[in-house]
Amino acid sequence: MREIKRIACVGAGYVGGPTMSVIAQKNPDITITVVDLNQSRIDAWNDPDLDNLPIYEPGLDAVVAEARGRNLFFSTDVDQAIEEADMIFISVNTPTKTYGKGKGQAADLKYIELCARQIARVAKNDKIVVEKSTLPVRTAAALKSILDNTGNGVNFHILSNPEFLAEGTAVPDLHNPDRVLIGGEDQEAIEALVQIYEAWVPRDRILTTNLWSSELSKLVANAFLAQRVSSINAISELCEVTGANVDEVSRAIGYDSRIGPKFLKASVGFGGSCFQKDILNLVYIARSYNLTAVADYWEQVILLNDHQKDRFAQKIIQTMYNTVNGKKIAFLGWAFKKDTNDTRESAAIYVADHLLDEEAEIVVYDPKVSAEQIYRDLDYLGTRSPAENRRLLTVVNEPREALTGAHAVAILTEWDEFKQYDWAEVKNGMKKPAFVFDGRKILNRKQLEGFGFQYYAIGE
Ligand code: NAD
Ligand code: UDX
Repeated sequence: MREIKRIACVGAGYVGGPTMSVIAQKNPDITITVVDLNQSRIDAWNDPDLDNLPIYEPGLDAVVAEARGRNLFFSTDVDQAIEEADMIFISVNTPTKTYGKGKGQAADLKYIELCARQIARVAKNDKIVVEKSTLPVRTAAALKSILDNTGNGVNFHILSNPEFLAEGTAVPDLHNPDRVLIGGEDQEAIEALVQIYEAWVPRDRILTTNLWSSELSKLVANAFLAQRVSSINAISELCEVTGANVDEVSRAIGYDSRIGPKFLKASVGFGGSCFQKDILNLVYIARSYNLTAVADYWEQVILLNDHQKDRFAQKIIQTMYNTVNGKKIAFLGWAFKKDTNDTRESAAIYVADHLLDEEAEIVVYDPKVSAEQIYRDLDYLGTRSPAENRRLLTVVNEPREALTGAHAVAILTEWDEFKQYDWAEVKNGMKKPAFVFDGRKILNRKQLEGFGFQYYAIGE
């Protein structure tokens, strides 16, 4: 049995950082170095003040405090970490391509390839290379070819070990995973990785498969989860015209043990860095094998999600007498879900873009997202000039600043603190009629209507 003493992880992002922190916490005898090209990200991981870690995840500070400096290190010296490691995790980003063939659908594998070429160039002894990033099925074959053809004649064993953590619950998800999935061909390499997880995960929850099943399962898991959200969101629209209530429908169907209660919460639309990207990727792969019916089926999950975001914005405009021009709309939340500062593909971005087209005056409050990030998200869309975005949208640090004098409140993220506000007082400070558009269904209709709000919630 090959004993792993040193691990390198390339990519210190939302996956590499938390995943390696927990592996280090649970395996104090293994030295783990997480490397990234982004100096400021690494500096933040090394910041003595744990409030300055580059990503916000409940409980992560305690894990980092326990392992950092003991057997967990963060560095920009990628070559050294690779050279010293027995096992190398690749945890770099795999965004949707924004150019060339597959633009808007296929995964951009340039970071993966750069990483593979660097490993090949530097490695002077045998390495186990672990795909932690989410990758198109059969990427391991490309990786192997690059490693073998550009390397120094050493042996590389490739494993696929996709990550299933969700943001906001990354630490509990890592501490207590439903399963760990390891795909590979070489039994000894598989066992080496199994042993690392066995430090805290029961053996019967560590599943092993061939490489292709493992790679594909990650895309399929995200597609199934997102499909549930789109399914219930489709039903939410039907509820609104029939008098049914989508929460009641979710509860009624979720009690069926074959359906189950999770991921049936209707919302303004799913966001996050994974769902859309991974389904687009699945669709692209299916089309590349000429499986048109398969591709069309999964594409619909995305189309419905786009429709849901659009529909929410339209509802706001329609309800406010068909014009939001010059009206102050308070946005509560910008992150794609609560308990994270991640805004990638957040529904808030698209709803805001739509309302800004109508010259609304948006004031955003999010407890964890910075103003710089919010403007970066909007500017990235390229719908209007950065100056226009800053003229029409402001970001505040206090919810009161957003709410006072607003014509309407739109809830885009389900942060717990929004439920605690004194909504009677909020109403007093707003223009009348005071509207609330609850895209997350976190407030109580009876109570809000009692305070005199015009209250709209998805699916009611
Ligand atoms: P991220 O953008 O937060 O982090 C990726 C990091 O890799 C960046 O800091 C970047 O600077 C670094 N990087 C890129 N190329 C590099 C190179 N050649 N050398 C060194 N560093 C390099 O991305 P993420 O959210 O951590 O996602 C990483 C992968 O994990 C993706 O494939 C994603 O699909 C997958 N994934 C993400 C999540 C999630 O919740 N975010 C969950 C499961 C799987
Ligand atoms: C997802 C997967 O859950 C995780 O396993 C994978 O590793 C990465 O992608 P993440 O995107 O971090 O995780 O969060 P998740 O909790 O899945 O939520 C995704 C989006 O769906 C969020 O915008 C969330 O608000 C939305 N959602 C989720 C709903 O609208 N309704 C639900 O019932 C569940």
